[in-house]
Amino acid sequence: MTSHTLNELIAEGVRGRYILVRSDLNVPLDGSTVTDDGRIKASLPVISKLSDAGARVLVTAHLGRPKGNPDPKYSLKPAADRLAELAPFKVSLAEDTVGESAKSQAAALADGDVLVLENVRFDARETSKDQAERGAFADELVALTGSNGAYVDDAFGAVHRKHASVYDVANRLPSYQGDLVHTEVEVLQKLTKEPQRPYVVVLGGSKVSDKLAVINNLIGKADTILVGGGMLFTFLAAAGHKVASSLLEEDQITVVQEYLKRAADAGTQFVIPTDVVVASRFAADADHQTVSADAIEESSFGTSGIGLDIGPDSAATFAGHIKAAKTVFWNGPMGVFEFPAFAAGTRAVAQALTETEAFTVVGGGDSAAAVRTLGFDDGQFGHISTGGGASLEYLEGKELPGLSVLDR
Ligand code: 3PG
Repeated sequence: MTSHTLNELIAEGVRGRYILVRSDLNVPLDGSTVTDDGRIKASLPVISKLSDAGARVLVTAHLGRPKGNPDPKYSLKPAADRLAELAPFKVSLAEDTVGESAKSQAAALADGDVLVLENVRFDARETSKDQAERGAFADELVALTGSNGAYVDDAFGAVHRKHASVYDVANRLPSYQGDLVHTEVEVLQKLTKEPQRPYVVVLGGSKVSDKLAVINNLIGKADTILVGGGMLFTFLAAAGHKVASSLLEEDQITVVQEYLKRAADAGTQFVIPTDVVVASRFAADADHQTVSADAIEESSFGTSGIGLDIGPDSAATFAGHIKAAKTVFWNGPMGVFEFPAFAAGTRAVAQALTETEAFTVVGGGDSAAAVRTLGFDDGQFGHISTGGGASLEYLEGKELPGLSVLDR
């Protein structure tokens, strides 16, 4: 199965046509300041290509998880403003998604202009489980494109969502795969179809329950899985160690034990940290010390200690595996990298990714933000995915509605 490409749409001719583009502009904000514009930059090429070719571009996107009503906190204004700063074309923002503002501003677009529709999740029908409700909303989005419109899905980060602007509009308009989605899928295919070995996967982040499905699917496929982040404590508990007050998902311990057993039979090696940085409390300026992973409760903080990073020995071991790999996928920080005292593990992994000869993929909004926050450059990695949940679900082997709906 293949999807129609953006180049095919451009070749058909887009001058004067309304093209609805689903972008992923879901960027982190500090008040109204965009703190990581990676997704905006990644969305720019497709919007530019269409604008250059004379299309009247309607960009639809979400930001955060508003409750299905307009909420200024989740306005796309900061993202649209940043897009306008980066773009050589005219960008405006509608005050609503499919209402009077969207309709009148769309009608006033000249060829090559770009209109960002307000947060598509300000309408509860976008995310509704009811197909008819989503369909009614999709009809209103499609109506903005007039009689000769087309749809381009370029929001890789949202392809795992069966939402009106991702899925239902694609059933109503001639639909095309944006270049960003195309590249992301190509990269992830390299990981899933005969990756060059050793294939090392680095997993972090806080919750092991978010990662179980991907771990399940990687057993037997990855050669080595390095475990960091808050989830490492559930692995330590599964190995029989006490973790003091560190993050622990007790209900997942037996699942992890079962995975560890299955991995041993399938030839996948799990590498669990041998030392951790334990803090007196969850704070940037907390007292902290490095202890052996099997003696967390012996730190001077006793049972109130909280593990906030992998230790230096583990970071060196992880770096060694990464440097010896031919393919590396990384999702999730190793510790609380937002606090400088607990950023060393994440930094060491990022550094090793920039030094290895392997093909490296950084997946996930958090990990991408982490490498940029720590001062690394996108160009130092093979590929930085814009998709968090989407890239994980792809690696889980799940069917992604936003991709399958484009298949012809
Ligand atoms: C993401 O941040 O991973 C995507 O933009 C999807 O956002 P969501 O998890 O709120 O659907």
